[in-house]
Amino acid sequence: MATKLKLAALVVLAAFLAGPAASEAASICFNGWLRLPTYNPQLCRSSPTVRTRQRVPAPSGSGLTSGYYNTRCPSAEQIVTDAVKKAVDANPGIGAGLIRLFFHDCFVRGCDASVLLNTTNSKNSDTEREGPPNKDSLRGFEVIDEAKAAIEAACPSTVSCADIVAFAARDASYFLSDRRINIQMPGGRYDGRESFANETDQLPGPFSNLTALQESFGAKGLTSDEMVVLSGAHTIGRARCMFFSSRFPEMDPAFAAKLRAQCNGNDNTNVNQDDVTPDVLDKQYYQNVIDKKVLFTSDAVLNSTETITQVTENANVAGAWERKFESAMENMGKIGVKTMGDQQGAEIRKVCWRVNN
Ligand code: HEM
Ligand SMILES: *[C@@H]1O[C@H](CO)[C@@H](O)[C@H](O)[C@H]1NC(C)=O
Ligand SMILES: *[C@@H]1O[C@H](CO)[C@@H](O)[C@H](O)[C@H]1NC(C)=O
Ligand SMILES: *[C@@H]1O[C@H](CO)[C@@H](O)[C@H](O)[C@H]1NC(C)=O
Ligand SMILES: *[C@@H]1O[C@H](CO)[C@@H](O)[C@H](O)[C@H]1NC(C)=O
Repeated sequence: MATKLKLAALVVLAAFLAGPAASEAASICFNGWLRLPTYNPQLCRSSPTVRTRQRVPAPSGSGLTSGYYNTRCPSAEQIVTDAVKKAVDANPGIGAGLIRLFFHDCFVRGCDASVLLNTTNSKNSDTEREGPPNKDSLRGFEVIDEAKAAIEAACPSTVSCADIVAFAARDASYFLSDRRINIQMPGGRYDGRESFANETDQLPGPFSNLTALQESFGAKGLTSDEMVVLSGAHTIGRARCMFFSSRFPEMDPAFAAKLRAQCNGNDNTNVNQDDVTPDVLDKQYYQNVIDKKVLFTSDAVLNSTETITQVTENANVAGAWERKFESAMENMGKIGVKTMGDQQGAEIRKVCWRVNN
């Protein structure tokens, strides 16, 4: 007991001593996901995947076709749409989760459903679901699992989990936008057989600056404009206080005061990302950037000379952002796709959270 108290006192003292100095010297690590009081060589050294980052050509998506399942499994897309509709009607937040799931799938190993695996693979290591961007955060898995089960019953071993994730993101975008956003989403992706937590540092994090955002998207063949367009997805869903509480002084004072009260000092509390229209996939995000009513550094930096023109246009021109979002989502769905099965070490999984035997 005495030791415990002493330890507690030490921790408090250390925190007090470290306090202001530490926050100024905070290290931004794991590609913008961690803001640590001190430099941690393990987490702060950028991995080879981040270090060798370079701009690559736009994803071609060759091998994908629209209506891919029309002959192979005619009910497939409707089954996904029904499952998404049901889930979004019950809780719009799940729709936000499905859109994010697609982004987090495509940015790591391509759109191959690697993000869905939770059962240890051949190398016995943590999967993407355990990585800092995903752990205790991603949601919507049960919608994918439900759609997959119904599709397997209709057409066994025919429809990939990667395509289900892509169709679900398309449908969630449609329902959450009051049917204003219609993404063309071709099919034909195969499912990967590997998933590693340490590769999730290819996703840019909330503490990323503009350069880091542009480089992370560039490394996937997406442009800075597409990065700005896709960030508009932060007009729905939620976020935890740990990712933005260091920014209260930089925000609109009334917005910051509201968030401070909601967070109440708890890092794990979730708040709405868009305080104005929290459950609608609309262009409000861009007005929020201008009004200093966005949560993350990665949102606020869009007020930069290079990107402010598009922010203003998206905020003001009706329908402009929606059309760009449709194309950018379609493009994101082409990143690193596997369209050949065996030859690419890929397969059509039977259950989305584990590889076939
Ligand atoms: C530009 C770089 C991006 C960064 C740094 C970023 C970061 C984040 C973070 C930190 C959260 C909150 C997670 C939590 O607190 O648990 C979040 C939520 C979310 N993000 Fe992003 N994101 C980015 C781009 C995107 C893109 C491209 C999309 C989709 C097109 C997207 C869709 C979402 C959605 C819908 C949520 C809410 C999820 C939910 O409510 O379950 N984000 N993002
Ligand atoms: C990521 O984790 C896997 C499995 O533990 C390991 O084989 C690989 O070397 C790691 N990669 C990096 C870049 O650390
Ligand atoms: C894996 O995730 C699914 C949901 O996608 C869940 O039903 C299942 O119990 C999880 N399995 C393990 C081994 O964690
Ligand atoms: C942007 O972030 C990267 C990665 O953390 C860092 O190396 C770079 O110095 C930052 N650039 C600026 C202008 O702050
Ligand atoms: C945007 O940047 C300009 C110029 O640096 C600055 O004056 C303004 O306060 C910033 N606005 C927001 C919303 O961050």
